[in-house]
Amino acid sequence: MTYHTVYTQSVRQPEVFWRDAANMLAWHTPPATILTKDTNGVDRWFADGKLNTCYLALDQHVQAGHGDDVAVIYDSPVTQTKATFTYAQLMQQVSQFAGALKSQGITKGDRVLIYMPMIPQAVIAMLAVARLGAIHSVVFGGFAAKELAQRIDDAAPKVIVTASCGIEGKKVLPYKPIVDDAIAQSLQKPQCCIVYQRAQCQATLDNAIDKDWQLLTDNSESADCVPVMATDPLYILYTSGTTGKPKGVVRDNGGHAVALNYSMQAIYDIHPGDVFWAASDVGWVVGHSYIVYGPLIRGATTVLYEGKPVGTPDAGAFWRMVEEYQIAVMFAAPTAFRAIRKEDPDAQQLAQYDISSLRTIFMAGERLDPPTYHWTVDKTGKPVVDHWWQTETGWPICANPVGLEAMPAKPGSSTVPTPGFNVQVLDPQGAVLPRGQQGAIVLKLPLPPGCLPTIWGDHSRFEDGYLSEFPGYYSSGDGGYIDEDGYVFIMGRTDDVINVAGHRLSTGEIEEVLASHTAVAECCVIGIHDALKGQVPFGMVLLKDGTQVDEEMLQQELVALVRQQIGAIACLKRIMVVPRLPKTRSGKILRKLLRQIACDAPLAIPSTIDDPGSVEEIAALMASQGAVTAKATG
Ligand code: COA
Ligand code: AMP
Repeated sequence: MTYHTVYTQSVRQPEVFWRDAANMLAWHTPPATILTKDTNGVDRWFADGKLNTCYLALDQHVQAGHGDDVAVIYDSPVTQTKATFTYAQLMQQVSQFAGALKSQGITKGDRVLIYMPMIPQAVIAMLAVARLGAIHSVVFGGFAAKELAQRIDDAAPKVIVTASCGIEGKKVLPYKPIVDDAIAQSLQKPQCCIVYQRAQCQATLDNAIDKDWQLLTDNSESADCVPVMATDPLYILYTSGTTGKPKGVVRDNGGHAVALNYSMQAIYDIHPGDVFWAASDVGWVVGHSYIVYGPLIRGATTVLYEGKPVGTPDAGAFWRMVEEYQIAVMFAAPTAFRAIRKEDPDAQQLAQYDISSLRTIFMAGERLDPPTYHWTVDKTGKPVVDHWWQTETGWPICANPVGLEAMPAKPGSSTVPTPGFNVQVLDPQGAVLPRGQQGAIVLKLPLPPGCLPTIWGDHSRFEDGYLSEFPGYYSSGDGGYIDEDGYVFIMGRTDDVINVAGHRLSTGEIEEVLASHTAVAECCVIGIHDALKGQVPFGMVLLKDGTQVDEEMLQQELVALVRQQIGAIACLKRIMVVPRLPKTRSGKILRKLLRQIACDAPLAIPSTIDDPGSVEEIAALMASQGAVTAKATG
């Protein structure tokens, strides 16, 4: 069947389409109902079905005689470690750690927060939580204590699982002090903190709640899978919104498993036994969907890489991985390829490796800029697919569905809507725009399986943030257009979310930190173009009247504050002290106008502006700081 036939059926007869996809899974109790509404009026998939996601990821393959197939390859250039886990070995370790969690009182519905680097124990912990029908919340290891504390308070985990350290290039970063600090800052205290000790740095376990991973696991009985309802949450994953408070995206068990299994085949063309590598981190949605659950549910081999595209040890790292593990499909952020290109523009490293096993390279996390697309295609000779998705959807909204039908690529486009996603472009009044015209990218309801049904503990934030702007549609927060051939072009966020090296950050959150400095009266953070990271934050601060400061020192203090409060990944390096900021008469900073200045776009100066002279002044200042580029977005 061609893509168009499949796509049309998916949006015209979603229940028939997704019933067929659901039949591919080994349910505990297959669903009789396919699409219903929950008590919030939100569309839910497979509401009366029962399953266990860990069973799908592990036990079913072992029971089907594939226990000796490789489930996970761990490659860590930063520790010089390589290891493989068969499905049977992984199932044994997961069952054992599930028993350890059970011994600490974890049962169905309890939350377990996981703050781990890219080591097999992170995968084991996630699957063990799923095995018990509990809910994990993985927090990216690059976040600082305050960010972690916010997530602890929101998810109220009974147990935290961590490791003694993470390793970033040559830096060993102790995690335990960050966890201790976060617990001290949080109001919701966990009952227990399980620490996996790494050889590179041993954590001191002197706290009444600390437990050693190995000791606890060795002394626990293994635990079996607990079936849960399809609509029960599998995990909460926090992501940046427009405010300082991260949003807890909830993922259910049933829709998630059906969607991921479908996507592994239809989008990535992955089959049992294939080696699939998503070069991301378990702390991001890509890690959840395509390092852990997607490949394992599909019975493929997944790769866990604890390293960087460059510097561990060189720009040949990705190609070395492909050759060594015969990787069939890989997935990374465009920024990773920009980093490789910067160090090895002529791809001399690539020439040293045999990458003939590689069928397709997928990229996501930010728009794949045409120069990076062309470089990667030219140097590798492989099909390169830009695909667009969000933490909220959990799987790609638009892609080149190579498992169904490979469409001709158009650089700059994330190709076509994935089956199940009814993508439209609307004007501000909610009217559907003609082909070629740029507007808000929305998804007509119902969303397909796998997408978020709510925000943890705050359903009104889900309604207000996604459903209320255009009734009947989910607002993606991205702008763009669909061309005459139905190809979708995502041009960037329409809100205050920025994308730094494929990491999603809220400018509002950075502003909160800057505003907490005693010298700062007001501030504004926008994303500006960066050749390597796509975007980086750029701060503008207005000082309190009468404040005398050394501007350079203030800038250093503010940079340090953001690193300490959010984490180094915020990458805030540039801050400018300004005499005034353009505002409305009611005192609202005109952020959109500042973003327009930064990307050298035509300025839409609102009639409500308080002081029109401030625009020229700030534009000149931004230009003097190199903060005005034609490509900036966000
Ligand atoms: N734990 C602790 N610190 C972390 C971290 C982690 N897991 N990840 C990043 N950091 C730190 C880095 O050490 C760095 O700190 P520094 O300022 O002290 O040097 C800072 O956060 C910024 O990191 P990063 O954005 O990774 O920049 P970089 O210059 O070290 O590397 C790239 C640049 C392009 C190689 C890197 O950003 C990259 O590989 N990006 C791909 C991201 C990705 O896969 N995203 C997933 C989307 S699919
Ligand atoms: P995250 O939730 O961290 O996955 O970030 C989602 C956001 O990243 C989207 O809303 C987009 O702004 C951006 N994004 C991800 N993939 C792409 C892509 N292929 N093209 C353009 N933007 C993308």
